[in-house]
Amino acid sequence: MKTGLVLLRLTGAALGLQLLLGGFLTFGFISAGAHIVMGFILFILAIATMAAWLVSKPALRPMQVLAVVIVVLLLLQIILGFATLNNGSQAIAFVHFVNALAIFGATISGTFITMRFDRVSSEATTHDVGTIREE
Ligand code: HEM
Repeated sequence: MKTGLVLLRLTGAALGLQLLLGGFLTFGFISAGAHIVMGFILFILAIATMAAWLVSKPALRPMQVLAVVIVVLLLLQIILGFATLNNGSQAIAFVHFVNALAIFGATISGTFITMRFDRVSSEATTHDVGTIREE
């Protein structure tokens, strides 16, 4: 669970940077290299995050589903990115942009899911301590 949380935050940070690099690339401030390298780093981080949530106990089902969705969306994003590079299609570039927003939204909802889970589990701990004192 702790590893999953740390990896989720690292993935979020890498995603923020990747969105920035995407903007720089669109406006011609950088060449595609840095954006491509960061894309693969992000993909590896997302796979590690997914693995951590899939094996974490107790299982947090919504987070497991979300982590898989993020990896699938990133795979699609990489395919769309290379398609844009190969044929210069503005339509595919637009889908690449919309998918980036979906990945961003999914990562943000992961943060909220884990925050809610943290609160519920700390409330449960507080309740348990009370029970122990009463005995
Ligand atoms: C690793 C493979 C990737 C390649 C080859 C790639 C390629 C590109 C290209 C060529 C552009 C410029 C499009 C244009 O304006 O004509 C772009 C922009 C962008 N990319 Fe990527 N990309 C990749 C991965 C990603 C990932 C993983 C994300 C984020 C999750 C991302 C987010 C963006 C964003 C936000 C833009 C700016 C908006 C746009 O023009 O679509 N890219 N990318």
